[in-house]
Amino acid sequence: MIVLVGGEKGGSGKSCIAQNLAALLTVEDNASVLIVDCDSQGTSADWIKLRNTNPKAPTIDLVQLNGKIRNQLLGYSSQYDYVVVDCGAQDTMALRSTLSTANVALLPMRPKRRDLKTLPHIDEMVHSCKLVNHHLSAHIVLTQCPSQPNQQSRLNEAKSMADLYDIEVSEHVLHERHIYDDSEESGLSVIECEPKGKAADELRALFKDLVQIPKQESFDNVVSFA
Ligand SMILES: Nc1ncnc2c1ncn2[C@@H]1O[C@H](COP(=O)(O)OP(=O)(O)OP(=O)(O)O)[C@@H](O)[C@H]1O
Ligand SMILES: [Mg+2]
Repeated sequence: MIVLVGGEKGGSGKSCIAQNLAALLTVEDNASVLIVDCDSQGTSADWIKLRNTNPKAPTIDLVQLNGKIRNQLLGYSSQYDYVVVDCGAQDTMALRSTLSTANVALLPMRPKRRDLKTLPHIDEMVHSCKLVNHHLSAHIVLTQCPSQPNQQSRLNEAKSMADLYDIEVSEHVLHERHIYDDSEESGLSVIECEPKGKAADELRALFKDLVQIPKQESFDNVVSFA
């Protein structure tokens, strides 16, 4: 299965979600996973380098690719259970190539006006790629959401705005939590550092719903590598 984590806005949490998905599938589902880093910043590649210095962290493979990567992705998808593609914050050939091949697209967005302003263009991209990839299941994922109850209206407004477009808006949101920053510093994931925390539960709920994971009972295996 090919899962794209992409979008147009910088810093929305694309690499973070790609890394946490890859780690969850590896650690809790025992799946073979390849991360494809298409961003010249190499955020996920740097994360894997850090991860490789921790002998306790299960290995995750990574390649860096760009340009027309459709055929390469198809090749990798026959070798790995999951290919997780981390695309940079631009409308690149790699992003469109992946959208035209992927099974699932997760499109993270903060509940902020500048992120939401990218909706029309993302909607156009998804729509045109669906003409060649009818099976693409694309979802907007609201991320870095404030937890304070008095900020709930902000989240509701963002959901209503996203609902105006054809892309499905996931009912599962990810809240702003320090464990994301803390875990990535050591090449680990949220699930490995705080397996019983709220952030881990939110990630599991999101991935369980949007990425079809065959052995879902293995979510009960709680392991800590921190
Ligand atoms: N839910 C969250 N709560 C708190 N911090 C988060 C959350 N998600 C991501 N972050 C933080 O936001 C920052 C940017 O995340 P990340 O690098 O994943 O974004 P990106 O969309 O890949 O950025 P770019 O467009 O530069 O590739 C990181 O410091 C990450 O730890
Ligand atoms: Mg990134």
